[in-house]
Amino acid sequence: MISEPVNDRLLEVESALVALGQETLLEALRLAGPAAYGDVLGQLSEVDWAGVSDAVALARMGVQADSGPRGVLKPGSIVEAEPTEREDLHAEGLAALQAGRVAALVVAGGMGTRLGFDGPKGALPIGPVSERTLFGHHAAQIRGWSEATGSQIPWLVMTSPRTEAMTRAHFDAAGFFGLDAANVHFFSQHQLPAIDFDGNLMRSTPHEPALSPDGHGGLFSALAATDLLDRLAARGIETVSYFQVDNPLLPVIDPVAIALHRRARVDWSAKVIRKETPAEKLGAWVQHGDSGARIVEYTELNPSERSQRTPSGDLVLSAGSIGAHLFDLAWLREFVREGHALPIHLSPKVIPSVDSGPQSSPDTQPNGFKLERFVFDALPFVSRAQAIRVSRRDEYSPVKNAAGDYSPAAARAALADRNRRWLEAAGAKVPPNTIVELNPAHFPDPAHLLNGAPLTASDVPPGVLMVGGNPR
Ligand code: UTP
Repeated sequence: MISEPVNDRLLEVESALVALGQETLLEALRLAGPAAYGDVLGQLSEVDWAGVSDAVALARMGVQADSGPRGVLKPGSIVEAEPTEREDLHAEGLAALQAGRVAALVVAGGMGTRLGFDGPKGALPIGPVSERTLFGHHAAQIRGWSEATGSQIPWLVMTSPRTEAMTRAHFDAAGFFGLDAANVHFFSQHQLPAIDFDGNLMRSTPHEPALSPDGHGGLFSALAATDLLDRLAARGIETVSYFQVDNPLLPVIDPVAIALHRRARVDWSAKVIRKETPAEKLGAWVQHGDSGARIVEYTELNPSERSQRTPSGDLVLSAGSIGAHLFDLAWLREFVREGHALPIHLSPKVIPSVDSGPQSSPDTQPNGFKLERFVFDALPFVSRAQAIRVSRRDEYSPVKNAAGDYSPAAARAALADRNRRWLEAAGAKVPPNTIVELNPAHFPDPAHLLNGAPLTASDVPPGVLMVGGNPR
């Protein structure tokens, strides 16, 4: 028998669905029988119905987002590490790591629809030689920096109901990649229902609504359901390095950026690169009227904002966010504690659904909207933010698609290319047609990897793999 409070929650879900005009859906769910119906409604009781209602209204109005008044978007200001400053900055960042001030946080709750990989994206093999997975690759960096600084870097891993069990199993099977399991903290984000272009909830099976993770902006409400930030604060953490699971080129612990962030005493630093074309799918780092820094998703820039150029031919909104940020922990705790509701965006996606035929292939056309929150929609709540310009070739090659641009093959080639450049800059002679993989645990910086000693091809230190053939 269902207890009263549970019953109340189920009644609330029913009322929310009726308010959205979803009586037909309710009828379909009821056909599964009382037990299954109770289970589905129980799952739906976790959903933020106020947010869904806003999203349905947007879909019915034919718009994809309502992120507040727009105004004129101007280029945001950007800092960059001067070559002459790098050594000092590196030492400062290292000192913060040694003092145990830095934690890492990866968002890995996405479904990787475009990639079409069977499993969480973080379990995708990416090492050009070793085939180490994305999770393994990030873990090796965290382990390397922890060992080098003598201070364990805690790692928060955001999963979703879809990826949680598989992600934990992946870490278990790999012995936590040599990390101390007590320093790795999994937490799961919430889900939102997918809707069709008319604002009706879609079903994944005849008796279940299609649910998907609520976007990387689900980070804040997911954290609010844990005590993880308090625990980080209690152990002296001040800076959180946020990254997305799908970019193996990113140095997930970057002493230079950490130092730029801490020196500026800002709440938020966003890494940006120079956009190459107006169509490039990067959120734009902008100044929003007088009200501060924002990142505007590429789908929400209008054509003139996207393609406007300076007299010298550069794009005006040329700074693209790579989804790597540094947060001040005190700001993050306060923001999470205050429980702000971020806007919901409608992302056209292929939703596997019985309502419009099974369409699970990433090649087919979008048939509805996933509802997502974006992490950078927290920027309006930040009083001090900055962007840090980094090198695209050194830091950005995410895995989004199965083939072509932003594919696993492109990311492996970019990793091998960067590793070769690093080794050559450190004095190594790398034979042509050689795939180079540096073990990320041995510092992603050959000057430190080699302690400044010149390297020749026959003098390969531990942590460097060199194998002939073409990059895969
Ligand atoms: P993307 O927006 O590229 O989404 O995520 P995705 O799930 O990886 O791939 P598609 O769009 O379905 O093809 C960028 C980062 O944000 C995380 C992803 O795991 C990835 O690290 N993310 C995305 C979440 O953690 N939760 C989400 O709900 C969405």
